[in-house]
Amino acid sequence: MMKNSTYLIILLALGLVFVSYKWVTSATSPDDAPVQKSTIEDIMTRTSVRAYSGKEVSGEQLDTLLRAAMAAPTAGNKQPWRFVVINEKNILKAIGENFQTMTMATDASAAVIMCGDTTATFKGQAQAYWVQDVSAASENLLLAAHAIGLGAVWCGIYPQMDRVEQFSKMLNLPSEILPMACICIGYPAGETTPKDKWEPENIHYNTWDSNTSRQPE
Ligand SMILES: Cc1cc2nc3c(=O)[nH]c(=O)nc-3n(C[C@H](O)[C@H](O)[C@H](O)COP(=O)(O)O)c2cc1C
Repeated sequence: MMKNSTYLIILLALGLVFVSYKWVTSATSPDDAPVQKSTIEDIMTRTSVRAYSGKEVSGEQLDTLLRAAMAAPTAGNKQPWRFVVINEKNILKAIGENFQTMTMATDASAAVIMCGDTTATFKGQAQAYWVQDVSAASENLLLAAHAIGLGAVWCGIYPQMDRVEQFSKMLNLPSEILPMACICIGYPAGETTPKDKWEPENIHYNTWDSNTSRQPE
């Protein structure tokens, strides 16, 4: 004969299994509100972070960021992106000292130079898609950094050819590899506040001259 308390424990255990099952299946459901909310929240709360605490970003965290970057869409799925991870302090310092717009690199824990291989994409006019491909990867990387509690900022290189030349020389890049951005990464030094950029005036429905920023009812 089982004691009442044994029945109670079995009942509680079954209840726990049921609640856990419900929680797991609801969290992975594609139309599950909390999962969507956290993605939107991460997008809406990201901001450029230019001051870092000095705490080091791990290799595992960098891997997560690079995986997120390589999950981005690319024209024709060509994936012409190439990445140079900078985690040596002397190179970070050199970037910070040589580029007025990238002074934060000196204090960053790491940087990723987002490059495009101009021979790994289409030929002709469509070759220029590499910039959009590497940009999509860059935004993914920024969002992933924010999502895991890091701070990052996208610093432009291409199409400013003086910067392209300096980075190419500094990193010994082959001529077909063009550096597009330097993303500096670290733990944020303090609270970060996203900018509100919502401007309905920038939206047109159906034709430019629709003269309404609201979708017609
Ligand atoms: C193509 C591009 C180039 C940028 N270059 C720099 C840069 O050289 N230095 C810098 O501090 N921020 C740079 N930024 C970051 C922008 O200044 C920043 O995204 C913008 O002010 C909006 O702020 P938010 O990222 O916090 O929303 C760049 C952003 C983009 C998309």
